[in-house]
Amino acid sequence: MILIDGKKTAQEIREELKKDIDKLKSEGKDVPGLVAIIVGDDPASKIYVRSKRKACEEVGIRTKTEEISSDIAETDLLKMIDNYNYDPAYHGILVQLPLPEHIDEDKVIEVISPKKDVDGFHPVSVGKLVIGKDTFRSCTPAGIQELLIRYNIETKGKHVVVLGRSNIVGKPIANIMLQKQEHANSIVTICHSAAPDVSYYTKQADILIAAIGVPGFVKADMVKEGVVVIDVGINRVKDSSKPKGYRLTGDVAFDEVAEKASYITPVPGGVGPMTIAMLLKNTYKACLKYSK
Ligand code: GUN
Repeated sequence: MILIDGKKTAQEIREELKKDIDKLKSEGKDVPGLVAIIVGDDPASKIYVRSKRKACEEVGIRTKTEEISSDIAETDLLKMIDNYNYDPAYHGILVQLPLPEHIDEDKVIEVISPKKDVDGFHPVSVGKLVIGKDTFRSCTPAGIQELLIRYNIETKGKHVVVLGRSNIVGKPIANIMLQKQEHANSIVTICHSAAPDVSYYTKQADILIAAIGVPGFVKADMVKEGVVVIDVGINRVKDSSKPKGYRLTGDVAFDEVAEKASYITPVPGGVGPMTIAMLLKNTYKACLKYSK
């Protein structure tokens, strides 16, 4: 069994990006800029945004964080985002989700210019992804494909089974792996909560991608020998032996499934760090493509 080290791979990507950005600087060109907008004070969101900002600073991406009170009117937030659409200092706009209830998430996602949509959530980005055009791809799915590439895992003609149909992970990763392109070209099944017998599908997987948010859902008797397992779950499970009172665990019962897997990602240290690395990559790409 080979453990897929997302932390190390993400670090490699960041070092590559740092070199690319240093080169832009030395040529006197514009460096990438990312504005992160956070509404309210959800503690998990704050931690995510802080990590994103730190990662940007490390590779030389200019960054700004807008911390907005949760009682901002929807129209004011939309206006603020739209102003950044015209601000040449920022090539990427990231609005951390979830948003407070009185704000329509769809409206927020749609007001971001597709040229600055480094999260890949805009319907234009999603549509281009589905029809196989170059676009910004949602960061976690892009990170999953990058791990498969960097670990030389064959995908052509392989059966990829995706557990979960979210707009952020399940649907985009299924569409990425489906494309008639290098590092994809897979046979794809999307499995979700309405499946009468999930095992029927998971047992067929050459590559199993679990993104349902149920701790330890995938057990050893649900997979075949030699399966490649990508665990996207980041679940907080109560654990009084830990200083914070909880530990992070994936959607896969790691110890038992690892015994049958040919490759497996751990949680933490698997897919998680790749999400931020791909956000940086998308921001760099936005700068190259659309910098004035
Ligand atoms: N909330 C959870 N994951 C994400 C993400 O990838 N991007 C944004 N903007 N918000 C999130």
